[in-house]
Parts: sequence; structure tokens; C-alpha cells
Amino acid sequence: SGFPSVLRNGLSKLGFPREILELVFNWVDGNEDYLKIPEAKGSISAIRSEAFFIPLYELYLTYGGIFRLTFGPKSFLIVSDPSIAKHILKDNSKAYSKGILAEILDFVMGKGLIPADGEIWRVRRRAIVPALHQKYVVAMIGLFGQATDRLCKKLDVAASDGEDVEMESLFSRLTLDIIGKAVFNYDFDSLTNDTGIVEAVYTVLREAEDRSVAPIPIWEIPIWKDISPRQRKVKEALKLINDTLDDLIAICKRMVDEEELQFHEEYVNEKDPSILHFLLASGDDVSSQQLRDDLMTMLIAGHETSAAVLTWTFYLLSKEPSVLSKLQYEVDSVLGDRFPTIEDMKKLKYTTRVINEVRRIIFSNDCFNHMLMFVLACFQTFCSKFLQSLRVYPQPPVLIRRSLEDDMLGKYPIKRGEDFFISVWNLHRSPHLWEDSDKFNPERWPLDGPTPNETNQNFRYLPFGGGPRKCVGDMFASFENVVAIAMLVRRFNFQMALGAPPVEMTTGATIHTTQGLKMTVTRRIKPPIMPVFNTEETTILLDQ
Ligand code: HEM
Repeated sequence: SGFPSVLRNGLSKLGFPREILELVFNWVDGNEDYLKIPEAKGSISAIRSEAFFIPLYELYLTYGGIFRLTFGPKSFLIVSDPSIAKHILKDNSKAYSKGILAEILDFVMGKGLIPADGEIWRVRRRAIVPALHQKYVVAMIGLFGQATDRLCKKLDVAASDGEDVEMESLFSRLTLDIIGKAVFNYDFDSLTNDTGIVEAVYTVLREAEDRSVAPIPIWEIPIWKDISPRQRKVKEALKLINDTLDDLIAICKRMVDEEELQFHEEYVNEKDPSILHFLLASGDDVSSQQLRDDLMTMLIAGHETSAAVLTWTFYLLSKEPSVLSKLQYEVDSVLGDRFPTIEDMKKLKYTTRVINEVRRIIFSNDCFNHMLMFVLACFQTFCSKFLQSLRVYPQPPVLIRRSLEDDMLGKYPIKRGEDFFISVWNLHRSPHLWEDSDKFNPERWPLDGPTPNETNQNFRYLPFGGGPRKCVGDMFASFENVVAIAMLVRRFNFQMALGAPPVEMTTGATIHTTQGLKMTVTRRIKPPIMPVFNTEETTILLDQ
């Protein structure tokens, strides 16, 4: 089957009309006995039901690492095979784009780095990646510590008063405070108060979520969209966020102008270590619209994803007290009462494994939701062709691709223009790829081995994607989670509150719980700290 496909690609590159090529080559292909991708049928009504995810996993067990799922006029190829995922994301990534994702994300991210393709993506990626250098990450670890300390103070009050706390919203606020400072030097201070801008961010996020599960896009209906109080509120919120971003960009420009700038690779401004400051100082030549899109993209990408990891970690810890004890033992001996530093990140190995395992388990669920959202978004697109194009797909970490040319995936030839969904859920939970795949077991990766990533796990583990479009915030997010978890379990014990509602995942847009994570927080009666003696320090002490 190789030659016709090569010929076809060649002709297509020479500018032959695609329709004609398709007609001719379909006829030729029809005479070939190549393998056809297995096909499974779905229906819109199945998507609306709670149990939508389970069939997807069962379809994988029935049809294998790649199969076609058809919904009326639309079909997708579902990939659950590590080597095919690697081929699409890494080895032949040039032949794939983000496809429909760009349209769906337009509402909040515009041409930001996550949805962008082609030249815009290349230029923006090259500008943004250097901003997250080693020295920046070190500065961020300080920020993570301060922000988590604010949360600890809040929990201290709750522990004294004997009041239960809803941890999910606190984690959401913690990560919002962090990402605001980290990306554009804005202190949302949402852990302390509800300012207009904090409310605006949540209005937009909630709206994005609601829209993505609505079968009919009523927010696009003319007149209604202007008079509905709710839509007016959303519009005002978006405007407030955009105006705030414009102000922050202006303030930062002024700072950069006034500074005696000596820009170099590891440039950090002490007063404002944000990504925005780095970009402006680097002379990044970019429109303010593009800059705003990138900032907004990073705000969304780095906010709820990190909050979700924390929420599900504490939920799982409440179920596994032995894991919590082990964590506390490690944190006590590595940190004592200090704020975490970059050196500690390497030493907190067990803490890191816990996060790796939470990501394996929960990120996968996240992807279920993405699949759901994606199909619904396509459906919305389908029934709102005549309306203004405004579709929503709120959470960024999705492995959605469209083929830009014909390709071979394993033994199957595929055509240009196919929509792919790489099911991280199936990869992370596959009984063929993992031992006790449903079990929460941080020790599945030995502590003295490397931290698992997509490369050393051969693409069966993809919490941050892989290849050229891999997450730019992977190290940021990992350290943020390590610092927060270490500081919290060092000070407190966490248990599910008595009479707390059952913790379930929503099939909504994100990885939220249905009714929050209500916990009882108690101050730890600390065991004596067993410091791990560093010989150099000891010598210095003795010398004094
Ligand atoms: C891309 C996950 C935190 C910024 C991605 C992708 C995944 C992901 C899976 C790849 C999407 C694809 O291939 O289609 C996560 C998770 C996070 C996290 C699970 C937290 C636990 C962050 C943070 C930032 C960030 C903190 C910003 C500082 C981005 C950007 C991209 C991206 C800009 C697009 C990169 C590109 O296309 O070139 N993320 N992310 N992420 N992430 Fe993250």
C-alpha cells in the first residue's frame, strides 16, 4: 500500500486538487487489500449519559489500539496504543495539527500557544519556552512556598476553630494566586478576598464549562445573547479580564523601559520574575492581541490542572493513610521546618511519586471529559453552522490532532483530514500496559529510578503530552505540586469530614468533584524531627 500513498502525497504537494486525488486514489485503494481500521458505532444519546466513558474503555479492549468511532456525520479515530501515540505526537508530528481544537478554544485562547498551529505556533513556542529557564523555576519555588504558607495560615484558623474546610475551592484559589504572579505578576490574592477580577475569572471558567455541555448553543442566538443577564455578565467579565491584562502589559512595558536592562539567557527581574516581564525584556516582537492570548492560555493551562492534581491527591491520601504517613516521614526528614528549595525537589522522591501516580489516575479521567466535550463541541458546531462561530472547550491538556497528510499508523493507512483523539485514559489504565492498572500505587516506579515521563515510559504515560508540543509548564507544575503537598502534610493531618458528601468526578468540563472535597484539618503533633545530617554543615557548626 506504500506506493500509491507516496504518489498521492507527492501529487498533493504539487498542488493537485484534493477532491480529484481522493476520487482516483479511493478507486485504486479499493483494489488493494490493506487493513481497514476497526469501526465502532456511537450515538449522541450515549454521550449524554453518565456511563459514556466506560464504553470507550470497553471499545478499546474490544477493538484495540486504534479504532474509528462514528457519530452521525462525524467520525474520530481513537488511539490507545503507545507506539501510535508516539508516532503522531513525536516521530511524525509535522504531519498533524491541532485541528478542530483551535476553533473550539477560540473563545478564551484566541491564537495562544495551545491551539496555535504552523508558523504562529513555531514563533510563539520559540519565544515562550526560554522564559521558563532554571533561574525562573528557582524564583517560582519561593513563590509556591509563600502562597502555600498563606493557605497554611488559613487552615490553621480552621483547625483552631474546629471547622471543616472545602479543599477543592481552596486549591483552585491557591493555584490561581500562583499562576497570576508567575505569568503576569498579578496578585489575585484570591485566598484572602473575592475581588471583581477573581469573580470574573471564575465567571468565564464556569461559563466555558456550562457551554461545553450544552447541546444547543443558546448564547449565540441573536438578541438573546445581548439581553440575557447572564450573557451580559460573561461579556463584562471577559472585558474586565482583557482590560486588566492590557493594564498589566502596559505597566510591565514601563518597568522594562525604566530598567537598566542587560538581557541574557537566564534573565530574571527580581521585583517581577513573571513570564510577561521576560518576554517584554527579550524584545519579543508581538502584537498585544497575541501576547494577551498567550497570557490567557497560560493562565487557564496552569490553573485548574494543577488544582485538580492537589484535590485528587488529598482525596486519595484520605483513603490511603499509609501513603500519607510515608509522605509525612519523608517531608519531616528532608524539610524539617524550612521552606522548600530547588535542592529539595530532588530529595522529595516519594512525594514526587505520589504526584506521578495521581496524574496517571486522574489525568486519565480528565481525558474522558475531554472526549465528551470534544464530541459535544463537534455537535454544537454541526448544529450552529449558521450562527457566529463561538465554541468552547475549556481545559487545555487534550491530545487532539488532525492529520495534514496521508500516513501509516502501525499496519493501517490513514487519510489526510482525519480527527484523532489520543485516549490518555486508555493508555494510563490499560491492563496490557500496567500491572494492577486501577490501583493507586505510588511505588510502581522505584524510588531510585528516574522520574517517569513519556520518554522513559515509552508513551504509555502522557500527563504532559509529548514531542514538540509537550507542555511547557511540566516542571513548573510538578514543583508547584511538590511544594504545596510537602508544606501541607508537614503541618496538618487531613481526613474526610464526617458527613461529607461522597466524592465523585463530574462528567462536566473539568476534573472537578461533584460536591467539593470537605475535609477535617487538624494540626499535627510533630514527632521529633530527624534531620538528615549534611556533613559540610555539621563541620561549619563545629568550627563555630
Ligand atoms: C500543553 C498538561 C500545567 C502551559 C500541555 C499539554 C498537556 C498539558 C497534556 C499538551 C497538549 C497537546 O499535546 O495537545 C498540563 C498539566 C498541567 C499543566 C497536566 C498541570 C498539572 C501547565 C502550566 C503551564 C502550562 C503551569 C504554564 C506555565 C502549557 C502550554 C502548552 C501546554 C503553553 C502548549 C504547548 C505547545 O503546544 O507548544 N499541557 N499542563 N501547562 N501547557 Fe500544560
